[in-house]
Amino acid sequence: MPDRKPLRLGMIGLGQASSQIIHEIRAAKDCPWTLAVAADPRPHARAAFKAEFGGQVFVDAAELCRNAGVDAVYVATPPWMHLEHTIAAAESGKHIICEKPLALSLSDCDQMVAVARRSGVKLLAGHTHSFDALVTTGKVGKLHAVNSWNFNEFNHRSRLTAELAATHGPLFNQGPHQIDIVRQIAGGMVKSVRASTFIDGVTGIEGGYVGYLEFENGLRRAVLVARRRRPAARPRPGLEAAAQLPGDRQAAA
Ligand SMILES: NC(=O)c1ccc[n+]([C@@H]2O[C@H](COP(=O)([O-])OP(=O)(O)OC[C@H]3O[C@@H](n4cnc5c(N)ncnc54)[C@H](O)[C@@H]3O)[C@@H](O)[C@H]2O)c1
Repeated sequence: MPDRKPLRLGMIGLGQASSQIIHEIRAAKDCPWTLAVAADPRPHARAAFKAEFGGQVFVDAAELCRNAGVDAVYVATPPWMHLEHTIAAAESGKHIICEKPLALSLSDCDQMVAVARRSGVKLLAGHTHSFDALVTTGKVGKLHAVNSWNFNEFNHRSRLTAELAATHGPLFNQGPHQIDIVRQIAGGMVKSVRASTFIDGVTGIEGGYVGYLEFENGLRRAVLVARRRRPAARPRPGLEAAAQLPGDRQAAA
């Protein structure tokens, strides 16, 4: 008989991403989670959470990790805080789901993986969009390549310029989703990457990238492209994206 004891989850950061996740958790009626603890330095975010969920609230993540009776935390703070909050959670014995991008450098990612291993907790990168991906069923035969592109107006959403600069615009904000989706489809770990970025002439920050990935399983490759669209051309269009999957029997799109 599987253990259906609810997982006690704490939210660290009550901003935009967190509100999306809370919405999804509430919609999943059969999901065995309880959500009754949160941390955020903004008083009105804490008050809103307390009014809705009635649980304990903390000003800071480390305080939540030390004091709250939770099994796991969802880290939804700005990317440059993920390392600090993951260390605080792991060292308090909490499992961690961390929003993308996991961190802003490989050495920070390595530290996060090391602290989770050392502390005996699970660390999961919260790549929410890979669950949207088309999973190949063998219909296309052996997969030879994935050609994927994504085009949106990320740099023109209401974000502070300093935040865009720190996260290199779509690079760390959109790239993790696209690469994760392609990895899910290609079914493997990435062996090598060739890529270049280009600057958005309006913000002066990276506007997109083009990448060529080779996977450890040899045959599968991916090309990714992401760039910006001016809002004047089409206001808040949502995501425009596509993937082509040529196999040895047929191609899927
Ligand atoms: N998966 C997705 O679709 C998706 C969508 C949006 C954002 N994100 C990611 O989620 C993360 C957060 O982005 P966002 O858009 O929600 O940002 P946001 O600025 O809206 O929210 C961040 C929150 O963290 C809080 N915070 C700051 N310092 C804190 C601390 N020391 N302890 C606890 N809370 C603290 C802030 O007050 C704020 O409420 C980023 O990594 C972003 O890339 C993912």
